[in-house]
Amino acid sequence: MAHDKKIIVGNWKMNLDMHEASLYLHKLSQIVKVHRDVEVILAPTTLSLQSLSLQVNLRQFKLAAQNFYWRDRGYFTGEVSATQLRGIVQYGLVGHSERRHIFNESDKDIRNKVAAAIRNGIRPILCIGETAWEKSSGETFDVLHDQLIGALANITSQELDQVIVAYEPVWSIGNGQSASPSDVTSAVKAIRKQIEHLYGAKAAEAIQVLYGGSVTPDSAADYLALPGVDGLLVGAASLDAYIFSEIIKKAHKGSEVAKED
Ligand code: PGA
Repeated sequence: MAHDKKIIVGNWKMNLDMHEASLYLHKLSQIVKVHRDVEVILAPTTLSLQSLSLQVNLRQFKLAAQNFYWRDRGYFTGEVSATQLRGIVQYGLVGHSERRHIFNESDKDIRNKVAAAIRNGIRPILCIGETAWEKSSGETFDVLHDQLIGALANITSQELDQVIVAYEPVWSIGNGQSASPSDVTSAVKAIRKQIEHLYGAKAAEAIQVLYGGSVTPDSAADYLALPGVDGLLVGAASLDAYIFSEIIKKAHKGSEVAKED
């Protein structure tokens, strides 16, 4: 089930201006050269995406949108569509808990965004996870089940190949409260079970599942070693290029992260 290539995503959220983003990319590309076994994905604010897309070496890093609207074009003031992001990003976050909880994104919005990403050749990174209250009420697996069903309702098995799922318990995001290895293992298992139920055993094995929530260079290796975990979605610890490179290093099979092709 473990994929050869680990995925490490840096979600900068609403941090770093265009100049800082460019300096960051320059710095990270100096520290981290070419990977064959790690896919490093940077998710800057929408504003920086275009300039970073001109600067980035796609053999080194890929880009992700943090958000986009699901219609391709039209009268939607203030929105950016997946169609407009085509060719600029390779991935797009969908359903991040901050989108769900602060911006009230519904399962329907998320479902439409997953479909819009795929329609536009962008791989969706679908974020799901329970709140503290849902966890303490024993509802974690129900929440994961509902969020998966809600997001994937219109997705065919062929399209599922494009989808990455990130398990991000809401109570562990941005607060240093990381989930225990057994919490992550059982959640990831439940996610794969649900995928199996919907799409069959092969799809359940093939789908890439990430963990996100207060990951640091110290905890990264432990999460990456868990069965069924194919990578990490990193917020705060991705804001500093050096600290982020330490996390990338943990995903790299060899000890040397900076290596030329
Ligand atoms: P964090 O954020 O690493 O700061 O907890 C993770 C995320 O929001 O994806």
